[in-house]
Amino acid sequence: MEKKESIIKYYKKQSGFYDITRPAFLFGRGEIVRWISDANTSGTLLEIGCGTGHILKSLARNTDCDLTGIDLSPDMLDIARQKLPNEIKIYQTDLSEYNPNEKFDAVLLSYVFTLDFAKNEEHLKKVKQLIKPNGRIYVLDFHRYGSTFYKRYMNWHGIEMGEELLQSLEKEFVTERKSIRKAYGGVWEYFIYEGINVRD
Ligand SMILES: C[S@@+](CC[C@H](N)C(=O)[O-])C[C@H]1O[C@@H](n2cnc3c(N)ncnc32)[C@H](O)[C@@H]1O
Repeated sequence: MEKKESIIKYYKKQSGFYDITRPAFLFGRGEIVRWISDANTSGTLLEIGCGTGHILKSLARNTDCDLTGIDLSPDMLDIARQKLPNEIKIYQTDLSEYNPNEKFDAVLLSYVFTLDFAKNEEHLKKVKQLIKPNGRIYVLDFHRYGSTFYKRYMNWHGIEMGEELLQSLEKEFVTERKSIRKAYGGVWEYFIYEGINVRD
């Protein structure tokens, strides 16, 4: 099965209890919203892999951004549509097939890259094309396994992680802010990143 299909299938099963279970391990989502509001980010913001709309809902409350969300999973988006105000635009699409007419002032990806880690470079190139010159990128994701047991557990859930993701972000963008944090005293690490898409 192609990775894309396995992600859709996985979230078909997970969507019903996603919002209840994920606060226990998708750490940093409140903080990345604070970073976006601290930077006084305004204009258009795209969340790629917005899932059930947890972050978009918080961004709608805490920023003045004109918000758009895209996601592969129709089941996750059904939940997002129920909870989000109508002015937030939501589209079901794969990142690699999304070709909007306008670029965005800011783009956010929270726990998306590590779902298809082999395609990081390809996804990053595509994300860069969606950001205006001098626009911002925000990424929150897993950074490092704390043990081989945890690695096996995460790989079983289709998630792979590695420090090269943060390194690639720092190569492609000018780093404005970054932070690496330990979860549960070091069972894993996650990072929060803010970069600027400086014109070449
Ligand atoms: C772990 S969830 C994170 C959801 C949300 N960003 C959050 O932090 O709560 C990852 C989401 O990314 C979506 N996704 C994964 N790969 C994608 C792709 N290539 N294009 C669009 N969405 C994708 C999945 O369908 C899923 O809803």
